[in-house]
Amino acid sequence: MKTIEWQEDKLIILDQTALPHQEFYLELSNYLEVVSAIKKLQVRGAPAIGVATAYGIALGAQNSDADTTKEFLNEIEEICQSFSAARPTAVNLFHAIKRMKLASQSDGNVSLIKSTLIREAIKIHNEEKEATAHLSHLGAKLIKNDFTILTHCNAGPLATTGYGTALGIIIAAGEEGKKIKVFADETRPLLQGARLTTWELMRKGITVTLITDSMAGHFLSRGKIDCVVVGADRIAQNGDTANKIGTYSLAVLAKENNVPFYVAAPVSTIDFSLKSGEDIPIEERNPEEVTHIGGMRIAPEGVRTANPAFDVTPHRYISAIITEKGIVREPYQTQMSKLCR
Ligand code: MRU
Repeated sequence: MKTIEWQEDKLIILDQTALPHQEFYLELSNYLEVVSAIKKLQVRGAPAIGVATAYGIALGAQNSDADTTKEFLNEIEEICQSFSAARPTAVNLFHAIKRMKLASQSDGNVSLIKSTLIREAIKIHNEEKEATAHLSHLGAKLIKNDFTILTHCNAGPLATTGYGTALGIIIAAGEEGKKIKVFADETRPLLQGARLTTWELMRKGITVTLITDSMAGHFLSRGKIDCVVVGADRIAQNGDTANKIGTYSLAVLAKENNVPFYVAAPVSTIDFSLKSGEDIPIEERNPEEVTHIGGMRIAPEGVRTANPAFDVTPHRYISAIITEKGIVREPYQTQMSKLCR
């Protein structure tokens, strides 16, 4: 199963909104279709969004009819603007745009730059795959035999196009022969935990129990959970972490119950330009995601809603951040600047 595949003149994406009922692949042949797939969460998860963005820009470049480099670079700028408006929180998207823009500044005519952009997108994809495999094996050291691990949202192969981050660590621990169990939060409103995490873990033969988000405190307080592992969409310099809405509540509950709370993410998810989580932009999504489940209305017509897709967990609740360059702990400010170097 491949989350994203580049095929010469098109991008193939496994439609994550159709899972677990259908394994359906979308064939995207222009960049606006890629922007739309990112907005609709057909491709989702911070690293996968970054990879899709890079390929989407390469696709837009291939389709350009511009004759002069100037015209072509103006078009690339326009394409990049469409991607930057797709989803605001996952910083991998902005890192991918920055790298693709830089690659487009390379010497040569339009046709040479087009090839450079494809090579750069493939490079970003390969780097993400390597980074997540590496951090998963590093993080697996924190998982002991017989551990029960709680996770939130989906931070598996689907979300990364590679090994996974939070789920990557769990999968790596399983492959090392450790006996482990997982509790997966369903993750309202879009149910990435119920639909995707359970599907991925069951395919890997890892024992998984699905719970609603509000059950997490109960299991943490009863001593049923040995550690919590989640992914991230953007990590600030001081370790504050934005991840799927509900992560902050889990982190507070974990601290209250003396359960280690780990964040797993590649360095590409760190935003070294932000001092703290206060500056992380939080995506507000369509109210229908809250008032409806599976297309069916569950709330009265006209009810007011709020739908922030992410929240920020202050670094004081985070026991460690697991990256491919090492596992960092407090004091995050100093440890993170070492990663930046
Ligand atoms: O809105 P989503 O489904 O893109 O949110 C995804 C998450 O919050 C993941 O935990 C995060 O991107 C890490 S993916 C390795």
